[in-house]
Amino acid sequence: MAAAGAPGILVIGLAVMTAASSEAQSVTGERRDDWRSLRLSPSGTPSFNLSFQSIVQTLIGGYKEGNPIIITQNGFTDYFTIPQKSTIGTCVNSAPVAYLQDFSVTCVTDITACSDVLTVDLNAQVNPGNGGPITLTVQTQNTSVDIVNTGAALPQAMQCDVVVSADYTFIWNANVIKEVRVSIVTANISLTHQAKLSQRFTATFLTNNITSDVLSGNPGYQVGKPVIVGNGSVPFTKSTLNVWKPVGEGLCSTTAQTPVLFGQNLFSGCRFEVVNENCAQLREKVLQFLRSLVTVNYIAMRGNSNISDPSEWVSIIYELPSATCTGNCAAERVMCLKVPSNMNIEIITAVTGAVEGIPQEEILAAKVSFSTINVECMSACNLTLPLTNSVQLIQVPAQSPPTITRFKTNYTEYDCEKNDVCWQKLAYPFTKYYTGEPYHLTLAKGMILVFFFISAAVLGGPWNRIRKAWNRKV
Ligand SMILES: *[C@@H]1O[C@H](CO)[C@@H](O)[C@H](O)[C@H]1NC(C)=O
Ligand SMILES: *[C@@H]1O[C@H](CO)[C@@H](O)[C@H](O)[C@H]1NC(C)=O
Ligand SMILES: *[C@@H]1O[C@H](CO)[C@@H](O)[C@H](O)[C@H]1NC(C)=O
Ligand SMILES: *[C@@H]1O[C@H](CO)[C@@H](O)[C@H](O)[C@H]1NC(C)=O
Ligand SMILES: *[C@@H]1O[C@H](CO)[C@@H](O)[C@H](O)[C@H]1NC(C)=O
Ligand SMILES: *[C@@H]1O[C@H](CO)[C@@H](O)[C@H](O)[C@H]1NC(C)=O
Ligand SMILES: *[C@@H]1O[C@H](CO)[C@@H](O)[C@H](O)[C@H]1NC(C)=O
Ligand SMILES: *[C@@H]1O[C@H](CO)[C@@H](O)[C@H](O)[C@H]1NC(C)=O
Repeated sequence: MAAAGAPGILVIGLAVMTAASSEAQSVTGERRDDWRSLRLSPSGTPSFNLSFQSIVQTLIGGYKEGNPIIITQNGFTDYFTIPQKSTIGTCVNSAPVAYLQDFSVTCVTDITACSDVLTVDLNAQVNPGNGGPITLTVQTQNTSVDIVNTGAALPQAMQCDVVVSADYTFIWNANVIKEVRVSIVTANISLTHQAKLSQRFTATFLTNNITSDVLSGNPGYQVGKPVIVGNGSVPFTKSTLNVWKPVGEGLCSTTAQTPVLFGQNLFSGCRFEVVNENCAQLREKVLQFLRSLVTVNYIAMRGNSNISDPSEWVSIIYELPSATCTGNCAAERVMCLKVPSNMNIEIITAVTGAVEGIPQEEILAAKVSFSTINVECMSACNLTLPLTNSVQLIQVPAQSPPTITRFKTNYTEYDCEKNDVCWQKLAYPFTKYYTGEPYHLTLAKGMILVFFFISAAVLGGPWNRIRKAWNRKV
């Protein structure tokens, strides 16, 4: 009986621990749900005054990704809001802004009165996450807009001072907001009929003032941030990986480019015009054009890869097709064989750790390869060839950090004092860095817990019933 009592107590202990942690999770879960439902509610304004206590608790240690940004208003706390698109496609006036989540929306609103226009609050006192409130740095510009009348004349014409666009820049570091800059463009419109007004709202989170060194995450990549590539040798020249903007009938000679964003596959193309070329020239020209998109040799593994640290970059693998004819070259008299037509960029990603419960994704490898087609063409071809460009981000199962040999432990990457985030601490206490007690003791204690857990399961409800049923039969 005593033997059965001990596991019982332990199991209760375990159950309490599990309950506590799941409660903690459900609290954050609820908060996120709150935020979503706020986005959805047509008026968008919180219908209650948030209790000071609950918000202050979330801000201990500053903001985490996805937390709503908090403001102080007449001694009360509230969400910081900017008009945004709800999931049903309409814009709501005051949707909360989530930490580190950029957005850019264009809202088209039907207006019959000045009060229908979406507005922004430029007097908000933002809670930076670690102290006194910060005021917004506002820059205003006037413009004139032509509004499109879409409906009946109004009984009375009116003048409205409207915000045409508001671009918010949040300067942040770790879990703290350092500065909020707003650049707004206003216009004075005269409203005579029911009309449509287009307004733009953006939020951009930057880690510092120098826009040339924008990070795409810290440390892992954030979904929706540009994939970073490097060129040359240490220190690498940093840039974003660009592909063509998806276009319908665009010509390759005039096409624009767009950055590849982490977590988003892409397929785009353009039409390549060929005048008076033979097969070898055709292959060469097309390949040259496709390759001109990606001319760099490294890709950043993390959103914050250091340009001076080659261990945070991986080489891009190029698999180039041959420019000369291979295979049945006699057929080249009627058609050009193996002309490159699609450049495929495959990027392998994986979750490699977590910071404060948020999984961090890294790029493990990148490969540029080409697929070819046969093109009907005589010696001097005049044709238009569709060229395409695809980007696939392939997530592979979570990777464990590389095993560290003793001589490597002096390396800055593994130095927990010199890094914002120490990867070894993330897996603690499963790593050998857990020095609270000898490794074999940790293991033994773990095994004892597992044993008690199994005992509890066997002695618990369902098994008891099965055993009783069995005994009755016997
Ligand atoms: C929230 O508190 C403010 C300040 O006291 C007050 O003006 C406002 O009416 C309150 N809102 C609600 C919905 O209670
Ligand atoms: C914009 O217009 C408002 C109202 O007409 C005026 O007060 C303000 O000075 C103007 N700003 C600029 C930059 O022209
Ligand atoms: C808008 O323009 C009208 C006429 O041009 C003027 O009467 C009105 O005061 C202006 N309103 C604002 C807010 O600048
Ligand atoms: C950003 O740069 C501006 C102008 O150079 C400066 O006034 C501001 O203090 C800087 N902000 C931060 C957070 O460094
Ligand atoms: C990368 O370096 C190569 C060789 O030095 C150069 O041809 C290419 O233009 C560079 N690409 C970029 C994007 O700087
Ligand atoms: C980048 O790496 C270099 C060399 O390892 C180091 O001196 C530098 O401090 C690092 N920069 C940052 C921002 O970590
Ligand atoms: C292609 O166009 C060029 C110049 O427009 C012309 O000289 C050539 O004969 C054309 N080739 C064919 C196969 O039509
Ligand atoms: C690692 O660091 C320790 C203490 O700083 C030093 O004594 C040791 O020699 C270093 N080892 C290597 C391989 O650099």
